[in-house]
Amino acid sequence: MSVVGIDLGGTKIMAGVFSEGVIKAKVTVPTPEEGGQAVVDAMAQAAKAAIEAAGVGVQAIGLGTPGPLDFKRGRIKFAPNIANFTDFPIVERLEQATGLRVYMENDANAAALAEHKLGAAQGAESTLYMTVSTGVGGGFVWGNKVLRGVNGQGGEIGHITMQPGGPLCGCGLDGCLEALATGPAMERMALASFKREMGTRELFALFQQGDPRASRIVLQAASWVGIALASLVKCYDPEVIVLGGGVALNAGPAYLEEVQRSYHRYMENWITPPLHLAKLGGEAGLLGAALTAAIEIGEI
Ligand code: BGC
Ligand code: NA
Ligand code: ZN
Repeated sequence: MSVVGIDLGGTKIMAGVFSEGVIKAKVTVPTPEEGGQAVVDAMAQAAKAAIEAAGVGVQAIGLGTPGPLDFKRGRIKFAPNIANFTDFPIVERLEQATGLRVYMENDANAAALAEHKLGAAQGAESTLYMTVSTGVGGGFVWGNKVLRGVNGQGGEIGHITMQPGGPLCGCGLDGCLEALATGPAMERMALASFKREMGTRELFALFQQGDPRASRIVLQAASWVGIALASLVKCYDPEVIVLGGGVALNAGPAYLEEVQRSYHRYMENWITPPLHLAKLGGEAGLLGAALTAAIEIGEI
């Protein structure tokens, strides 16, 4: 069995051929800023390049994409961090561009599935996954099942309201977790505090050196994540929690300690599922997309 997995992110697209249980070839391209059809074309090109490099025939494409999704109509309702993707018929367009069957899943749901089956939560009955990067995404998985909800917005935990009246989110609401805890959110706070543009790479380096202003920003973001996770345990009651995404994987040990501290603080008197760091790194979304296709065509 061979399928293509595609992980569509706000900054990059990864396409990989998944065959006999491993990723045989992988191609990464930037996500076109104009969004819409340009993103479809870039994904199709990346998929074709990966298939050629792998040198095998593939049966289907699994696509992990951000945004609340309309699974019945194969559409993205909207994507907070990708332009021109409102009510976008992504499945049909990608099928047209590649000639292959496309099965879609929310990107974080896909990553959750991968961590649950192959990664940090392997063997658990149920997993709650959170990714913190350009956006905040989530997924709840049990067995081969991913919680999609009736309207394809189950597990959209980046948009739970943490601070009414707080910073504006890409979804149009104020005070979402995503507006408080992501890389772009921290960059916005760094600009206000340092009075100059600063990327997360520099901010995390300053934080790791103990700079007080950087620490205030990064630790505040970490504590929002921990608080949100504690609230989510009371909704989903998972066996294990897995935290992934570029921020969680790169901000450093002091960031993770603060996530754990605030998580445990708001689990006092409750049974506290272990909180693990993601194991599949940047490949969770890609693997999860491939697993989605493999499950849909009945190979898993
Ligand atoms: C989107 C989610 C996505 C997350 C991570 C959020 O802005 O609403 O669907 O999973 O970003 O990409
Ligand atoms: Na999700
Ligand atoms: Zn939001």
